Parts: sequence; structure tokens; C-alpha cells
Amino acid sequence: MSLAGTASLRAFLTGRLLDIALEFARNGSDPSGAFAALAPIAGLYFACALYGYMANVVQGILFALARWKMSMSMRQKLFKALIRQEVGFFEQNSSGALVSRLTNDTDQLQNVLNRAPETLVTNVMRLVVSLVLMAQQHVLLTLVSVAPLPLAFLLVKKTGKVVGRYGVLQNDSLARVNAVASEAIANVRAVQIAGAEKTEVEEYCQATNKYLKVIEQTLFKETALRFVSTLLNDALSDVPLLCLSCWFIACGQLTMGQFYTYRTLLWSYRRGFRELAELFTGVSRAQAVSQRYFDLTDRQPSVSSKPSATRLPLSHVRGTLSLQGVSFRYPDQDEWALQDVTFDVQPGEVVALVGASGAGKSSVLRLCARLADPQDGSIRLDGHELRDLDLQDFRRCIGVVDQEPALFDRSVWDNVGYGCTLSQKGCVRDELLADAVAAAQATKFVEALPVDEPLGERGSRLSGGQRQRLAIARAIARGAPVLLMDEPTSALDGETEEAVASTLSRLAAQGRAVLVAAHRLRTVARAHRIVMLEDGRVVEEGRREELLAQPNSRYRATVEPSMEVE
Ligand SMILES: Nc1ncnc2c1ncn2[C@@H]1O[C@H](COP(=O)(O)OP(=O)(O)OP(=O)(O)O)[C@@H](O)[C@H]1O
Ligand SMILES: [Mg+2]
Repeated sequence: MSLAGTASLRAFLTGRLLDIALEFARNGSDPSGAFAALAPIAGLYFACALYGYMANVVQGILFALARWKMSMSMRQKLFKALIRQEVGFFEQNSSGALVSRLTNDTDQLQNVLNRAPETLVTNVMRLVVSLVLMAQQHVLLTLVSVAPLPLAFLLVKKTGKVVGRYGVLQNDSLARVNAVASEAIANVRAVQIAGAEKTEVEEYCQATNKYLKVIEQTLFKETALRFVSTLLNDALSDVPLLCLSCWFIACGQLTMGQFYTYRTLLWSYRRGFRELAELFTGVSRAQAVSQRYFDLTDRQPSVSSKPSATRLPLSHVRGTLSLQGVSFRYPDQDEWALQDVTFDVQPGEVVALVGASGAGKSSVLRLCARLADPQDGSIRLDGHELRDLDLQDFRRCIGVVDQEPALFDRSVWDNVGYGCTLSQKGCVRDELLADAVAAAQATKFVEALPVDEPLGERGSRLSGGQRQRLAIARAIARGAPVLLMDEPTSALDGETEEAVASTLSRLAAQGRAVLVAAHRLRTVARAHRIVMLEDGRVVEEGRREELLAQPNSRYRATVEPSMEVE
């Protein structure tokens, strides 16, 4: 604001200086007298310039800080919204594209939104002050100067629309570029083994070229519209303005000082208009882009706690998990993954989920961990419907081992203790983690690992079996009454599998409810009960001996013969 004011004041003062100097020249007065007359105005000019520069520096720092703060807060808000979305959401949106939204979209938004107040205030002031002072210098010249304004304004509006439309296209193309790169890098082993480096490079080039094309189109259209608007507002009105000004000077209606002041104010007015026009197109673009941002930040996850959710303190949980008539279909799928599934797991019991690949074992565990909700039927913990429980409270009651162990690029102990809230600090926690590592048969290799060294992305510096045992240790360390394990022993040798299976029995004997999906005989044989799934339905249930003794046992005929025994 001060900048626009001081710039106009300086133009005015320069005009006055010129007029006084010319007056002395015309009258042939003593130039030393001119100096005395000019000095106060020059002094005022200096003070005005100094204030303007200082205000410029302070304003620049304050706005830059506000810009960064806003950018980080927008990222934090989006990340907070993303991380609580249900797992299914991440299966439908690639991580690369989401990270692109998190960085690129928010940067773009903050760039425009943060500059908006500064640009708006400075340039509206610049425009108003310039116009008022211009009118003060010469009304008719001012009217000629603003004559093209309505047409130029319409062109700016059109530019805003075009830039908004292309802004969304640009960001979508950039999200695609990032998605291609992050998928190829995440699967670099498979890419190299398949010798598909060239294909991936081509795919990446295709995505980047498409992005470039959208940028080219935006640039051409935006520049063309801006050119016409500037031509109209500046260049075309300049010739009549200059001719008129000279005419008025010749008629004695305009002094040279007033002419200089007028021209300087005119440039300031045009600059104000140009910067406001740029701000308008920027805001139009931000408006279009922000739709995506707000779609994500406002998105309600399909799995969340109700406002009236029941609180469930861990100490009150026994751990009886029961499924009643559960049917489940994945989003956008026609086929049911699970149909009318009914069984329960009692505290003190290991229940093995068996069945062919694709039978629905992982889907059952997904629902039991409430990573998704079934369309029909109910799942209860100690008689409480999972949907009615506070989600955080419920998740504290379960320890989960996924079919693909999820590890972080952190130290081994950070990985084992991840999400462990039992006793946060000190040796109690250390002892607890060490016990969990021992129970998962992982002590030997964990002790050989450097304590503080990260394990690589997704634990890439460990073997498959080691990753699996750390995931088991983490689930055990949570001390949860319910353990949900998806083929936790698939990568282990026979001896380790036997030891882990006996650990599961021991945990059950301590009162935990253990539900374990398994293809391995040693793990299944130690279970108290077996639930067999076929095409998403429970077809048999009972103790292993009972199932083997049944005359037409599906389990005996199909599952057990196919089971691996190391
Ligand atoms: N995220 C998903 N989106 C859509 N369909 C899925 C998804 N995950 C699994 N399915 C489908 O659901 C069905 C059951 O899959 P599920 O993973 O539960 O089988 P599973 O018994 O665990 O198999 P496996 O022994 O191979 O792990 C399959 O037909 C599968 O294609
Ligand atoms: Mg599975």
C-alpha cells in the first residue's frame, strides 16, 4: 500500500521539480535561487524514496514468511486428510499421484493465494491513487486513458477461464508423470528382471510429453489473450494520448511538469491493471485446482468412528471376535468376495482360516481389522458391533500381520515398537520388545543388526523370512487381545515355522484370540479349530481331526493334500 502511495508521490514531486526548474529557466532568474526552492522538494523526495524501499523490504519478508507458513499448513491439512482414508481409497489412487497432489497442487495454490492479498492491496491502491492523481492533472486525458478498460476487462475474464481449465489438465498430467515414476522405482527389481527398462522409460517420456503439450497449449492461449488485452489497453491508446498531450501543452493547458507526472502516473496505472489481470488469471487457475485439493481434504473416509462411537478401554476387552452372516464386495466389483460368512474366535483359541488362493481369507482379515466394512452381516468384538466402536480404541485391541509384511525405513527396534503404546518409555518397553522379538524367533538376526541403522524402504535390506518375523514381533509387542495373521509363516523354514506356530499356541494359552490364515500344515495342525473357505463361503468348520474324519470332507480332499510341509 505504502509502495503505491510513495511511487505516486514521487511522480508528483518530480513533476513539481521539473516545473520549478523550467520556471527559473523561462524567467532567466539566478540558478542559486532555484536550488533553494528545489531543495525542500528534493528532501521530501529522498525521505519518500527511503520509506518506500524500507517498506518494500519489510513487506517482502512478512509476505514470504506467511507464504511458507500457509504452504506447510496446506500440506499438513491434506496429509492429515489422506492418512485417515480407508485402505480401499489407496488401492484406487496411486501413491505417486497422491504425493504429486500433496506437493505440486499445494505449492501452486499457495503461490497464488499467498501473493493474492499483497498483489491485490498494492495494485488496487496503485490503480486508485494513480487514477485520482491523473484526473487531478488532466480529466480529459484520464478519460481517454481508461476508455479501453471494459474491453480489456472482458479479455482478462476470458483468459482466466482458459487458464483455469488448462490448470486442472496440467496438474492431472503432472500427477500421471509422478505416478509412472514412483511405480517404476518401487518395482525396480521386477522392471530389471523383466528387462523392461526401455518400456518404463517410454511410458515416462510419453507422460512427460503429454504434460509438456498441455503446458504449451496453456502458454500459447494465455499469451495470445494477454497480448490482445495489453495491446488494447496500452499501445492503442498511447498515440491519441500523446497527440492530445502535445496539443494541450501547445495550448498552455498542460505544463511540462504536469505532462511528466501524468505519464509516470499512467505507467503506474497500467502496471496496476496488468498485475491485477495476472492475479485474476492466477486466482482462476487456483480456483480450478483447489477443487481437487478440497475434494481430498473434505473427503470422509468410508471407515471411521461415528460421533457417538462406544469407547472400549483395552483393559475391559476379553477378545471374542464373531462374524455373523458377513457378505462383502470390493468397491466397483460385481462379484462377492465373501458371502454369508459366520464363525467366531474365542479368547484362548487359535483358529486357522484355510482355502484355495482367492477363497477370501485375506478379505476376512481385512474386515476383522476394520480396514473395510461389510455390506451385510455384522462383526463383533465382545458383543460390540465394530462399526459402533471408537476406531482407535478398536485398533488398540488388535495385532495384525499382513500377507506382505509392512516395514519402514527405520531402525529394527523402531520397526518392532511401531504403534506399541503399552509402556512408551524406559526399560519396560525395551524388555517387552525383546520378548516379542524372541517369541517371533527373531532374536538371533536382530541382535546381529546395527541398532540404529534403517532397514531400507519396506525393509528391503532383510530377507523375506526376517521381514515376516519382525512383522510378527511387532504384532505380538502390541500386547493386543486379538491377533490377526495373514500367512505369517509362509516364508519361514520348517523349524522356525514350528517354533512360531508354538508361540501362537502359547499366546492363545495366555488368553488371546488368534485368527491365522495359512497354507502351511504345521501352522494349521496346531490350530484349535479350522474354518475352510471356498469362493467366499464357509464350507467346513471344526477341529482338524474332525474334518479329516468326515466321510466327504472338502478339507481332506482339497486343502490338506495341497499344503506345504517344509
Ligand atoms: N483390493 C481388492 N480389490 C478388488 N478385489 C479384490 C481385492 N483384494 C482381493 N480381491 C478379490 O477378492 C477375492 C478374495 O481375495 P483374497 O485376497 O481374500 O483371497 P485369499 O484367500 O487371501 O487368497 P491368497 O491365498 O492367494 O492370499 C479374490 O477374487 C480377489 O481377486
Ligand atoms: Mg490372502
